[in-house]
Amino acid sequence: MPENNVGGLSTCEGSSPSGAAGTTPATYWIRTYGCQMNVHDSEIYAGQMRRLGLVPADSPDDADIVLLNTCSVREKAEDKLFSELGRLRWLKGLDAERARAGKQPVRIGVTGCIAQQRGEEIIEREGSVDFVLGTRAIRALPSVLEALSQGHGGQVITEDFIDFDASDADRLDRVRAFVTIMEGCNNYCSFCIVPSTRGLEIYRHADDIVDEVRGLSMRGYREVTLLGQNVNSWVDKTAGLDFPGLLRRLDDALAGNKGGVERIRFLTSHPKDLSPALIEGMGSCPKIAKHLHLPVQTGSDRILRQMNRHYTRDGYLYLVEQLRETVPGVGLSTDLIVGFPGETEDDFEATLELVREANYDSFYSFEYSPRPDTAALMYEDTLAPEIKRRRLVELQELQRGIQSRKNREWEGRTVEVLVDSFSRKTADDVSGRTSSNQIVNFAGEGALIGSLVDVEITRGCGHSLYGTVCGAPR
Ligand code: SAM
Ligand code: SF4
Ligand code: F3S
Repeated sequence: MPENNVGGLSTCEGSSPSGAAGTTPATYWIRTYGCQMNVHDSEIYAGQMRRLGLVPADSPDDADIVLLNTCSVREKAEDKLFSELGRLRWLKGLDAERARAGKQPVRIGVTGCIAQQRGEEIIEREGSVDFVLGTRAIRALPSVLEALSQGHGGQVITEDFIDFDASDADRLDRVRAFVTIMEGCNNYCSFCIVPSTRGLEIYRHADDIVDEVRGLSMRGYREVTLLGQNVNSWVDKTAGLDFPGLLRRLDDALAGNKGGVERIRFLTSHPKDLSPALIEGMGSCPKIAKHLHLPVQTGSDRILRQMNRHYTRDGYLYLVEQLRETVPGVGLSTDLIVGFPGETEDDFEATLELVREANYDSFYSFEYSPRPDTAALMYEDTLAPEIKRRRLVELQELQRGIQSRKNREWEGRTVEVLVDSFSRKTADDVSGRTSSNQIVNFAGEGALIGSLVDVEITRGCGHSLYGTVCGAPR
């Protein structure tokens, strides 16, 4: 998600249909806000544009089609969209010049969660927007572009055109791939807008998921992340499978493959649906990564009730205990919200206490942001912004200490790392993750990207580990 959310994925991707009349190919550019689901949806948009003959542009200034794939989980994310649209307005001033060069006008589209939620209103507020596509209307892009080229402006589609097939997606990463297994969420946590932007849950068929994962494995991907807002409620009634059953099927389907998918991750798990069977599967299936992202949101039972989360602090800590007993060395991360309406100092203290007890490897933390169409609006949001800010800083400081200490405990140990990129700091180092999701950097060449290597940890830093390779890549 944006800023400090799960995976930190706010992406910018060049991606564009028909430019100059018949000469150079048209170009596209996509900016993605929000979570991994949006990142993967942008990959599907990019694939569709490639099939229309478009190529990626370096910036929106050079693009024939500009797409903003939006997130509305917090108010700030929405503000960002409208300021970005304001910045892009000048592109529309180039239309006369483009027409003289035989080019179609620049098309600006808004997609994703704000598109689903606001629909028509976006075009009314920002006249430079040519089309709006909701979260379940991704597949309508080619027909919308066609309608625009025929002069039918102001296209808004927010109905369902669900098609889970992502075989034409242009994936951003050549080592790790996202695979959507469900859309929507039935949980209605009182603070969360997602059920109204992504709709109610619908599940992809098990066979289709297994086929896609097998296909990715054959193409040399080394890791897949199964995506859903609440993966633990995934079910395929026809196949008689629940989520732990799906993981076992995938683990079996990938057994014995060489050079293909070695790790299966999944996001996100709701604590109320985390079953003993899932924990047991994580302990016994070799391909299931030893990491769980288990959002707790708060350590206060009173606030948990108001959030409509359906578990207690003790229940959550019991799950953590079970998990650590069954899956030795498992990595654990979470999401936390501070400043939910009426959160007292005692409630906040309970969150700090829970963080100490759970001993997380990492977390994402947010100040509560009131969202339209959510039940939490019934509670008065009277906490001063400075109090929310102070609590967030205090929480993050506590975690910094826990993480530094935990990271130092890795020193001297050897871990298996899946190398996925160059290090962000220097091209002399490469970067990867352990099964437990620890980031590890070490000196190495780009040729290692996509390999599993053993690395001896020499230094535990604030957010990552540093080490030296020992042994040959596989
Ligand atoms: N489905 C996941 C779950 O149940 O935990 C999370 C999905 S949500 C898109 C990602 C995170 O954003 C949540 O876990 C929560 O911490 C945060 N979030 C959602 N709504 C929020 C709000 N109104 N204000 C602040 N943070 C929010
Ligand atoms: Fe939002 Fe709750 Fe659904 Fe997660 S489980 S997407 S927080 S409503
Ligand atoms: Fe944002 Fe929508 Fe994801 S609201 S976090 S992009 S599901």
